[in-house]
Amino acid sequence: MRIDEPGFVTERILLLGGRQVTSYLVMGDTYAWIGGGTAWGVARLEEQLDRFNVDRSRVRYLVISHAHHDHCGAVPYLLRRYPHLEVVSSPYGAEILGKEKPVRLMEDINRRTSERLGRPYSHDGVPLDFEAVPVAHRVGDGDSLELGGGLTLRFFLTPGHSRCSLTAYVPELEALFPGDSIPYPEAGREDLTVTANHDYEDYLASLRTLEPLPIQLVGLEHGGALTGLEAEGIIRRGLDAAERQRERIRERYRELGDVDRLVDEIASKYHALELFQLTPGDVMRAIIQRMVKSALGVI
Ligand SMILES: [Fe+2]
Ligand SMILES: [Fe+2]
Repeated sequence: MRIDEPGFVTERILLLGGRQVTSYLVMGDTYAWIGGGTAWGVARLEEQLDRFNVDRSRVRYLVISHAHHDHCGAVPYLLRRYPHLEVVSSPYGAEILGKEKPVRLMEDINRRTSERLGRPYSHDGVPLDFEAVPVAHRVGDGDSLELGGGLTLRFFLTPGHSRCSLTAYVPELEALFPGDSIPYPEAGREDLTVTANHDYEDYLASLRTLEPLPIQLVGLEHGGALTGLEAEGIIRRGLDAAERQRERIRERYRELGDVDRLVDEIASKYHALELFQLTPGDVMRAIIQRMVKSALGVI
């Protein structure tokens, strides 16, 4: 089953945001906020925190799955508003979040998209500008954080979608929070959407790392949460989909003999998907170019 409305997915997991961009609160004695959202989603997040009576002072960790604008766009705002929050990311994620060029790029995308949507660039007098994010906890394979109340966050480095991708797992709830590290189901589309943007081999290896975990719930950062059978087999199905897509890319390249045409073809298919409609065209093309070249083994 898929749940994409804000609310309690289980007693201890609150889904925030919406179908397009989703965040979660994992609620032990202290809370972990997973998924750094978007600048233009901040007003809705604040409204939801009020609606579900969330005590903001109990939120301790803010976990960034990877340093893409749609997964950390709200973080500078959240840190200005709630300075007690401790940001968690992979070590490489921490590097990116402190670097001038990616920070400027994220600020640019945040601003352009907010303008396009006609949203204000501040909330309750707090600016939504993106700026360098200080990371308090750099975590990798084998690291964990205790939330109290019998809940633990365990971490896995899962590069492939991006070099800095991090997956969180709560063993006590068999709940996986992979960011964009795994393929995800798109409404009305049978095949899973593959997100091997940075390195196809790494992406497959990361899926193999996650495959042995028992999974009852997947908290995706696009499309909401999956439970039951849809959650259980997601990694195996994801591996199959990623391998099939790599084969298709190679076959189509043999037919076309032209990387640029192949990139255009695939970029327009991805751009038509519901979840990528807000991604600027130039950004989409750059993402797909990297995925195609990586699948062809030319980078
Ligand atoms: Fe991403
Ligand atoms: Fe994303």
